[in-house]
Amino acid sequence: MDAEEKHQPIPLVDLKTQSRAIKADVLRRMEDVMDNARYILGKEVADFEHQFAEYCGANVCVGMANGTEAIHMALRALDIGPGDEVITAGNSFAATAFAIAYAGAQAVFVDIDPDDFNIDTSLIESAISEKTKAILPVHLFGQPARMKEIMEIARKHDLRVIEDAAQAHGAELEGQRCGSFGDIGCFSFYPGKNLGAFGDGGAVVTNDPELAERLRLLRNYGQKQKNQHESLGFNCRLDTLQACVLLAKMQHIEKWTEQRRQVAQWYRDELVGSELLLPHAHTDSRHVYHLFVIRTRNRERLMASLAEQNIHAGIHYPNPLSTAGSFQDAPTIPMGLPVCTEVAREIVSLPMYPEMTHEQVKRVGHAVCQIVQSQEMSSELV
Ligand SMILES: Cc1ncc(COP(=O)(O)O)c(C=O)c1O
Repeated sequence: MDAEEKHQPIPLVDLKTQSRAIKADVLRRMEDVMDNARYILGKEVADFEHQFAEYCGANVCVGMANGTEAIHMALRALDIGPGDEVITAGNSFAATAFAIAYAGAQAVFVDIDPDDFNIDTSLIESAISEKTKAILPVHLFGQPARMKEIMEIARKHDLRVIEDAAQAHGAELEGQRCGSFGDIGCFSFYPGKNLGAFGDGGAVVTNDPELAERLRLLRNYGQKQKNQHESLGFNCRLDTLQACVLLAKMQHIEKWTEQRRQVAQWYRDELVGSELLLPHAHTDSRHVYHLFVIRTRNRERLMASLAEQNIHAGIHYPNPLSTAGSFQDAPTIPMGLPVCTEVAREIVSLPMYPEMTHEQVKRVGHAVCQIVQSQEMSSELV
């Protein structure tokens, strides 16, 4: 590594390299849309839906405006609303819980497993009440939640399952793709996601043709045909120009996912023995490393020292969902969210994107180890 390379910024996420790789393909597809003026629900949306359903191992995909609306529409399609409770993990991006609120239902937060950061399945049953209608697990950071156990609980209590797979495109549990386990799987194509558009985008996948039909109506003003509104609907369609970007990216998604997994392995090689808690990866799962999240009790110093070396880390997410203004009165199970609370204080997301080079990972790993060692020497907690 030369001196200049040593000081080049390493961003948390790099969107520019990927965009350059697909630019010509995207422009060609967009030109076609412009030439034909098929801006709303154009052929590209249907083409993408077809490809993405197949990619997820689901029968149908319905494109949505974004991941938040994908969850919101999924809840509405399942008739979940006022008076109903939806059990979800206490740590996620706020949109998971907001979507439940948009549907008029009540989010009930359950604590997480400290190893994989996903909903602790052993606590779910204690959160079930007579109002519970669904479980909404989040495959956080690209690690599949324990879907076998979740589906078993759902079957036993006659509950619906909606997967928040916004961070888990292509993630697998026992060879089955995330999004295809429950009634409906929800995805975000926010630009920084593993499959990201050049703006907002989202989708749901399902194996149930009736649900698919309801979701299609819901996203398009309840219309089957123009001006025939069969039910209350919304404007939540996936944009045709964004579908062009997604179609171009679909050609690369598997390669990029494997590159993420390689970056994660390089991190593990660099950080092994550092006494930091590294992300747990279940042996029966394919973790797709939307984020590479480590734990340290000295987060502020670690992040500040990395920033001094032009390495940009992040926090996903700094507070449990139950502390968000609108959810302070949300019911939680009696034991509360001690793991969520502890984890939220300690997590750090290291730079992660498919194009990260081995040299870059070594630079981050070396910097982290040095900082951690110096903290150890000054007998601070690691
Ligand atoms: C776990 C999770 N759920 C839901 C969302 C919402 O997706 P969007 O930003 O596309 O609305 C996101 C991402 O932003 C997310 O990370």
